[in-house]
Amino acid sequence: MTTANQADIDALNTVLGQTFRLYVQTHGYHWNVEGPSFRQLHDLFEAQYRNLWSALDDIAERIRVKGAYAPRTVVELMANAGPEADPAKSAEDMIAKLIAEHRAISGTLRDAISSAGEAGDEVTAGLLTDRLEWHETEIWMMTASQG
Ligand SMILES: [Fe+2]
Repeated sequence: MTTANQADIDALNTVLGQTFRLYVQTHGYHWNVEGPSFRQLHDLFEAQYRNLWSALDDIAERIRVKGAYAPRTVVELMANAGPEADPAKSAEDMIAKLIAEHRAISGTLRDAISSAGEAGDEVTAGLLTDRLEWHETEIWMMTASQG
């Protein structure tokens, strides 16, 4: 039987893997975006990947605070992250794919916040709520940029 504490740690690991996957995707878009909005999107993707990279450390160290080991290999890190998005075909497709990924992580975060609440872990719930706030803001800005 899974304890509430283990479900809390499992949820953190899922958020960590999905955050890493989105980090790689976003940094790749930063490198490869083309078109008339290049500078704007190159800079937007940089701000996003820097945030995601920083978040990885906070999430992994929270797993350690909870008494579990953080992932030590790429396989462990990606165990619960799900499949990667298909390659983007254009700058517009990059935005659409990022919105979809941020929405998916937002759903994971809501589940993880619920798991943290059931485990009585307010600190993890707070960390994940801050992450959810950031993702929702990025979704808003990217959606607004679609016109
Ligand atoms: Fe760069």
